[in-house]
Amino acid sequence: MSAPVGDLVGHAAAGADLGTLSEPPGVSSVWDADPALGRVVLSVEQIAKRVAELGERITADYADRPPLLVGVLKGAFIFLADLARQIRLPLELDFMAVSSYGRATKTSGVVRILKDLDIDLTGRHVLIVEDILDSGLTLSYLRKSLLARGPESLAVCSLLVKRSVEPRPDLEVAYVGFHIEPEFVVGYGLDVAERYRNLPDVRVYRAGEPE
Ligand code: IMP
Ligand code: MG
Repeated sequence: MSAPVGDLVGHAAAGADLGTLSEPPGVSSVWDADPALGRVVLSVEQIAKRVAELGERITADYADRPPLLVGVLKGAFIFLADLARQIRLPLELDFMAVSSYGRATKTSGVVRILKDLDIDLTGRHVLIVEDILDSGLTLSYLRKSLLARGPESLAVCSLLVKRSVEPRPDLEVAYVGFHIEPEFVVGYGLDVAERYRNLPDVRVYRAGEPE
């Protein structure tokens, strides 16, 4: 009879779909279906590979002087978590939270410290871990603030640097994950109005700028 055969074919098709769903974790179609998200700028695989490379370099560079990683919240939290596990040294971690006033997708240049460090920086080898440099104003402010606290050394690691950033001595970034075009991006910790931080890759945010 034709009906059971049809059913079997249906089951086979369903099985194939389940097979697709159980493939290694990629990026869920929930994100693909979101009209506010544009093209993937950096894939999960590209990010993982680069973070491992940065971890190797930092491990070599700081072998005789274990670093204090200063994560800049909130954007750097995922990058920091992955990077710290790729550095094979007895490092320490602390966090700062900063915020710039103004519209959500444009930096105003006025930086506020929302949460300060717990650890004293005197004599320490400090590595600031940032999510992204756009105008560079946040980093410029942070460097000045942390340098005044007497660290033995101070360097910066930023996952992303937009090509809009003009090279300046106070914006020297020793470790750069990727240079990207000056577009607004979200994911892997980066947000727009607190959303998309848990997007596993980095994508262009293409909805109009929120007020
Ligand atoms: P800057 O002070 O202009 O360099 O901006 C730095 C901060 O603005 C970053 O640490 C982010 O929190 C935020 N930001 C800048 N560009 C982007 C972006 O494309 N996506 C998400 N956040 C961004
Ligand atoms: Mg930031």
